[in-house]
Amino acid sequence: HLTEGDRMSQKLPVEFVVNPEFGRDPYAAYAALREKGPVHPIEFPPGVDGFLVVDYEHGRRALNDPRLSKNPFEGPEAFRAILGQGNPVLAHNMLNSDPPDHTRLRRLVSKAFTPRRTESLRPRVQEITDRLIDAMAVKGHADLLDDFAFPLPITVICELLGVPVEDRDDFRQWSTTLITPQFDDEQALRRVEANTAIRAYFVQTVAERRAEPREDMISALVAARDEEELLSENELVSTLTLLLIAGHETTVNLIGNGMLALLANPGQLRLLRERPELLPSAIEEFLRYEGPVERATFRFSTDDLEIAGVHIPKCSLVHVSLGAADRDPGAFEDPDTLDITRADNRHVAFGHGVHFCLGAPLARLEAQIAFGTLLRRLPDIALGCPPDELSWRQDGSLIRGLRALPVRF
Ligand code: HEM
Repeated sequence: HLTEGDRMSQKLPVEFVVNPEFGRDPYAAYAALREKGPVHPIEFPPGVDGFLVVDYEHGRRALNDPRLSKNPFEGPEAFRAILGQGNPVLAHNMLNSDPPDHTRLRRLVSKAFTPRRTESLRPRVQEITDRLIDAMAVKGHADLLDDFAFPLPITVICELLGVPVEDRDDFRQWSTTLITPQFDDEQALRRVEANTAIRAYFVQTVAERRAEPREDMISALVAARDEEELLSENELVSTLTLLLIAGHETTVNLIGNGMLALLANPGQLRLLRERPELLPSAIEEFLRYEGPVERATFRFSTDDLEIAGVHIPKCSLVHVSLGAADRDPGAFEDPDTLDITRADNRHVAFGHGVHFCLGAPLARLEAQIAFGTLLRRLPDIALGCPPDELSWRQDGSLIRGLRALPVRF
């Protein structure tokens, strides 16, 4: 193990997490780091001490450590510039707050995400899935991301919130801009534009629902604001933005990454076809093996503290790699092997602690229907290009996903 001095002098450059080589196989890079120690200084963002956590034990603990805050307004300046006043439509929701605000904001939305409410969406999710596969099936080939994995969850979240799915190209563009943490002026300008546009969009929709309530989540949150003053107008817009982004940057890549994992491991694909009852455990394994959220959202230290013997000064960014934690041999046997029968799969792909993914039941439901139906209706699905032609997103966001997934059937 390196001393703290050695580690500080070997600060990882920001390119460590945004260069294309890393994108192709981050797990080898994480494994090499883990060999040296669980926590590493990283240059990200400029002018702020940052630390990357790459093992399961300390990563999981950090995700639920109350000394690590998610409130951007109290963080280091560069953090505020990206997530606080620099990104107001993202700044006032549960994911960017600490208890007690977090508890209040989460409780409001969690009413809409009860397992029962989620389960009631099953027939509609099946219908959307069938319709998308009908359209693909006649062609004999598809980009599984654009033709299927993207439209499925975005249609579901639009219907749940109560916004027209026809506006999805705007949502996609805003969403990508908001979650790309870059620091140059051009990006900052695009972030301001996306903030203005999304705010205007939701302010108008909220006004419409206030005048004429419907059976959707926007109307429910508007009622919570107006009748009980449980959340401010800023919090309302920010919560809707979070749900829209969370609802379509993640499940799309569970479907894409999971399908690629299966196609690259024909033995596991065969096993799943022979034993469809393994589907729920297969989905947990896709989440562990190649989860859509490669690195958790930023936390910062509210005090001087230590993680795994490494000194973390007050106001440092702490970045937990969920992808690295879920490939830690200290927590999983043969972590680099896809095993859809894996028992006791305690992955952290949905995070851990108070910020554990609120949409996990919905994501699991969508994935079960998506994989179950794809495998049944496209029995000979295969990769549509050589595996080394596939390209992974490298936009500096926290998401792990392909740019496209060509398939034929
Ligand atoms: C939080 C992953 C789908 C809504 C999180 C976090 C992770 C995550 C890792 C915690 C981030 C952190 O602590 O830094 C995923 C994955 C998904 C998925 C892998 C799909 C496979 C969804 C969906 C929704 C959703 C479909 C709802 C529309 C949320 C919300 C939070 C959250 C609201 C914030 C919870 C809080 O701060 O208390 N998600 N998510 N997610 N997710 Fe998901």
